[in-house]
Amino acid sequence: MDKNLDKKIVVNQEFDDTNLNNEQENPKKLQIKGNLFKRKTLQEKYPNPDTDIEIPEYLSLAPSEDTILRVENLHISFRTPNGIVRAVRGVNFDLKKGETLCIVGESGSGKSVTSRAIMGILAGNAIIDAGHIFYDGKDLVECKEKDFYALRGSKIGMIFQDPLSSLNPIMRVGKQLTEALRLKNGLDRETAKKRALELMKEVGIPQPEKRFKQYPFQFSGGMRQRIVIAIALAMEPEILICDEPTTALDVTIQAQILDLIKKLKKEKGLTIIFITHDLGVVANMADRIAVMYAGKIVEYGNASDVFYDPRHPYTWALLESMPSLATSKRLSAIPGTPPNMIYPPKGDAFAARNRYAMKIDFEQQPPFFKINDNHYAATWLLHPDAPKLENSLKNRYESQRKLHHIQEDNSHE
Ligand SMILES: Nc1ncnc2c1ncn2[C@@H]1O[C@H](COP(=O)(O)OP(=O)(O)O)[C@@H](O)[C@H]1O
Ligand SMILES: [Mg+2]
Repeated sequence: MDKNLDKKIVVNQEFDDTNLNNEQENPKKLQIKGNLFKRKTLQEKYPNPDTDIEIPEYLSLAPSEDTILRVENLHISFRTPNGIVRAVRGVNFDLKKGETLCIVGESGSGKSVTSRAIMGILAGNAIIDAGHIFYDGKDLVECKEKDFYALRGSKIGMIFQDPLSSLNPIMRVGKQLTEALRLKNGLDRETAKKRALELMKEVGIPQPEKRFKQYPFQFSGGMRQRIVIAIALAMEPEILICDEPTTALDVTIQAQILDLIKKLKKEKGLTIIFITHDLGVVANMADRIAVMYAGKIVEYGNASDVFYDPRHPYTWALLESMPSLATSKRLSAIPGTPPNMIYPPKGDAFAARNRYAMKIDFEQQPPFFKINDNHYAATWLLHPDAPKLENSLKNRYESQRKLHHIQEDNSHE
């Protein structure tokens, strides 16, 4: 496998002028080379402390046949006036065709940065220190903006927490939809309109004819998110990245949008990366789960394994802080705060908040321990010499899941 860790610098796409693709020498190109050089010096001055970490063994050496996207050893930092923020510190995962992979973790754990890297829309102060994102025979980390342009939306679509940010406030909703359709398929105006109305129906917008002529502000939050989903679908993507798409919505609307995403996944064979801080949502959506903390995946596995038999203390803490549906009260917030990512901790980043932390947790980063072929966790508690802990949370997950299933059965389909 190509583990080319020397190639540490990739210029963010916003900096990447299309002239860079132009083979001819021209003054502009030289100027961009200057930029590249500056960034490289910066990275050399403040090298990422853990870019050399081995790819953990949970990532199979060769991607299997049903792997459509693979993130390998991804490291991303941001330059800020206060120092270099180590936002993503060695993330690895395989995305399998037709599955929903949920990435879950507290705010600031690096979920959005990871997904933005996949879309090639990182902020201008981002540096990809190392790693690969393999998709469709390409490494997206090396991808030029011109190639991303062909991919973004039409191969990999993305919806965000705030639907207003992806809608044009002064353009009628119908026009935004038909433009996406025409861009993708070169449809004529009339066919595009017909298809747009169908799509609006598919995503559950009542009175599509009337809604077609309205502006985004005339829609409720839930309806706006439906429009954003319809626009994403107009491009017929293979992968849909949903970054906290229901976080801004109230609970009933949230459940409806989740049902819609599940229905569309089934109907269109979509592969989904679903990002959330809410394990309740995960229980409802995930085939596989990656739990993220401080820029790393700390637990990774099939949804049932991670839910029924969680192994990382951070996953326990997340589960404990999940509002119980039965009593509808929040049990406990996770004590403490996430680490400052300008100075990431030396050992297990969760150690300072972990009531089971051992001395080694403050000193050395735990490797990934295998629980079974589909379940891994990076915690020293899984070391054979560590004390055995009884995990008393199991029953709670069970009742939680049962409740979710009951909800599911009652939902429309
Ligand atoms: N443009 C930026 N400049 C500096 N730091 C950033 C930038 N974008 C994100 N970060 C930092 O990167 C870390 C991960 O952010 P993010 O991926 O957005 O978290 P989340 O898991 O909540 O989606 C956070 O510490 C955040 O402050
Ligand atoms: Mg986010």
